[in-house]
Amino acid sequence: MKTAAVILLCGFIASVSAFVPDYFPACRHSNFEDWVVIEKYCVKHFEEHANFDEAEKQCQLMNGLSHLVTVYGTLVKRLQDLSNSPSWIGLHFVNNNPRWLGENINTIPDVIRNQENCCVKINSSGQLECTKCTEKHSFFCAFIENR
Ligand SMILES: *[C@@H]1O[C@H](CO)[C@@H](O)[C@H](O)[C@H]1NC(C)=O
Repeated sequence: MKTAAVILLCGFIASVSAFVPDYFPACRHSNFEDWVVIEKYCVKHFEEHANFDEAEKQCQLMNGLSHLVTVYGTLVKRLQDLSNSPSWIGLHFVNNNPRWLGENINTIPDVIRNQENCCVKINSSGQLECTKCTEKHSFFCAFIENR
């Protein structure tokens, strides 16, 4: 009886203190267990506020592989499950050309096509928005899991 109560209590504490939603599996890289796997990435949200360049620098300092996250399509919604505060992702426009920081791909979300010099965040309504790179926001870092 007592044992059962202790087990129940431990379970309760474990579920309350869980930092990330338990429907995301933990990243399997050692020292990155508090990052979660979303599609092919290990991802973590950082609450601290930084401008776009500072945020990217923070990501790179994590392990040399990570950058602000490459994200579009359904992935945006999944990131929102980690945090819905406005956050930088790894896309900016340089001389009107879109550039992802983490991957050399050409896919650009429709909502932010044809922008000039700006940086992309997920805004509080969960949409991608091109905005001033000097704004300070929290941010998502990511690296490809199986590299
Ligand atoms: C979020 O961004 C979209 C377009 O990218 C914009 O229409 C919408 O107004 C923005 N929402 C907020 C709360 O700023």
